[in-house]
Amino acid sequence: MIRLDGKETSNTIKEEIKVQVTEMKAKGERVPHLAAVLVGTDGASLTYVGSKVRSCEYVGFDSTLIQLEETITEEALLAQIDTLNKDERLDGYIVQLPLPKHIDEEKILLAIDPKKDVDGFHPANFGRMALDLDAFIPATPFGIMQLLERYKVPTSGKHCVVVGRSHIVGRPISILMSQKGPAGDATVTVAHSRTQNLAELTRQADIVVMALGIPEYLTADMVKEGAAIIDVGITRVADESHPKGYVIKGDVAFDEVAAKASYITPVPGGVGPMTIAMLLKNTLLARQWNQA
Ligand code: GUN
Repeated sequence: MIRLDGKETSNTIKEEIKVQVTEMKAKGERVPHLAAVLVGTDGASLTYVGSKVRSCEYVGFDSTLIQLEETITEEALLAQIDTLNKDERLDGYIVQLPLPKHIDEEKILLAIDPKKDVDGFHPANFGRMALDLDAFIPATPFGIMQLLERYKVPTSGKHCVVVGRSHIVGRPISILMSQKGPAGDATVTVAHSRTQNLAELTRQADIVVMALGIPEYLTADMVKEGAAIIDVGITRVADESHPKGYVIKGDVAFDEVAAKASYITPVPGGVGPMTIAMLLKNTLLARQWNQA
């Protein structure tokens, strides 16, 4: 069994990006610049955004954090987005989700210039991705594809069962893995909450991608001997024996499934750490595409 180490792989990708930034600087080119918009003071969002900004600094990107009041109007936020769309010193930006209840998230995401949408949440990017065109791919599915490719997990002609149909994980990964190319060419089945006999399906799978959000849902009896297992779940489960009062659980009962698997991503340390590296990768791509 091979553990797909997301921590190590994301560090490798960051080092690769750092080298490219150093080369850009040596040629006198402007380095990639990412901005992050944070509305309000939600603790988890602050942590995520902080770590995105620190990662930018680590690889040598310019970064700007725009913190806005929780009470900002939708109109004022749209005006801020318009400013960011027009800012030529900026290659890409993200609006950290979730947004406060009084703001229509969809309206905000639609206002982002697709050329700067390094989260890959705009319909134009989703459509381009589905049509095999250059696109910003959302960080989680992009990170999964990188893990599969870098660890040379066989996917061509394999049966992949994706459990979950969310717009940012299940749906895009099902498209990407069915496309031609590295980590692709799989025969993909998308399962979801209305799927009947899920275990029957997952037992037929050479690759299972779990993006359900139910801790330890996938058990050993649900997988074939030698299957590759990708766990996208990250759920906080109360555990008073830990200093934080909780532990992080994936969608996979790790120990028992690992005993049957050929490849498996741990939680934490699997898909999760890949996401920031892929956001950086998208920002670098934005710099390259938008100057071409
Ligand atoms: N909130 C949780 N994950 C994400 C993400 O990848 N991008 C944005 N913009 N918000 C998030």
